[in-house]
Amino acid sequence: MARWLITGAGGQFGSVLLRALVRDGQDAVGTLSFHGPSPMVGTFTRMDLGDADAIAEVVRKNRPSMIVHAGAITSIQAAYEDPERTRRVNVAATTALMELAEECRARLVFTSTDLVFDGSAAPYVEDAPPSPLSIYGRSKAEAEGIVRSYAHGVVVRLALMYGLAAVDRPTTFHSQLDALRNGRTLSLFLDEYRTPIWLEDAALAARRIAESDYAGILHVAGPQRLSRLEMGWIAARAMGVSGECIVATRQSEMQTPELRPADVSLSCERFITHFGQAPGRPMAEAMAEIVTNG
Ligand SMILES: NC(=O)c1ccc[n+]([C@@H]2O[C@H](COP(=O)([O-])OP(=O)(O)OC[C@H]3O[C@@H](n4cnc5c(N)ncnc54)[C@H](OP(=O)(O)O)[C@@H]3O)[C@@H](O)[C@H]2O)c1
Repeated sequence: MARWLITGAGGQFGSVLLRALVRDGQDAVGTLSFHGPSPMVGTFTRMDLGDADAIAEVVRKNRPSMIVHAGAITSIQAAYEDPERTRRVNVAATTALMELAEECRARLVFTSTDLVFDGSAAPYVEDAPPSPLSIYGRSKAEAEGIVRSYAHGVVVRLALMYGLAAVDRPTTFHSQLDALRNGRTLSLFLDEYRTPIWLEDAALAARRIAESDYAGILHVAGPQRLSRLEMGWIAARAMGVSGECIVATRQSEMQTPELRPADVSLSCERFITHFGQAPGRPMAEAMAEIVTNG
């Protein structure tokens, strides 16, 4: 049986993946930041991804055969505000994990992002050249290159994820559902497009990729190209609320220090070819599950 090590297990994706593995009886351990929330399910250890010695100690102690690297500075704003720390956490930690994976002969699955693209040429296939607009996107594109140099490495480029994390910490998704439920103004872009995927589907797809022998890059995204506004309407319909509180806005109305890509929709044809089905379900179906089962 594989021994899994999941970094970022206190985050949205990592916590959901760790829970799925534990529920399935897999041998899995998660790593968390020192101050973040603990996952609801699973064994974990705390470690700073900015500290290469600490990473080495944890990996050598656990001797994983499968490393899923989901820990990162994921906020565009936070990455912009501290580029040096972003480099340490998002790039240097990936180098350290790649070298340790090699030492343990482990497979390394790196979670990257649709934000490695500038949004001008969607839908993007895996071989499209990265063109990030943000420090965050640049750090992930650089880390992709490190993982691709490793024979047992795979880059899973994730689209925007929605859903409930398996940690007790409110996320943007929670506050959006809360706004819809309570009729509080919810401003959503009508001109920013993604191919959103439910966290549970993304975790399952990443697991399937990890357990295969695929090396290189694979896109994991939902089947629909949706604007942020359309996503809000779908969520409102699933919740049985009017969505009257949703206000359509444009990217140009929001002042940000870095440009936001207009459309980073990902094509998943390569995943479908390899695994025989799409990685994610339509958003209305996922939202119905979320509303019914939490
Ligand atoms: N969310 C999305 O829509 C999306 C879309 C595309 C790609 N991705 C990628 O998918 C992966 C998972 O994303 P996510 O949404 O689960 O992100 P997330 O919720 O922000 O989780 C990232 C985790 O990394 C941890 N982390 C950050 N700095 C750390 C450090 N110095 N030491 C230890 N842990 C540290 C965070 O801990 P603290 O919060 O406690 O600091 C957090 O638990 C990331 O690689 C991200 O780039 C996400």
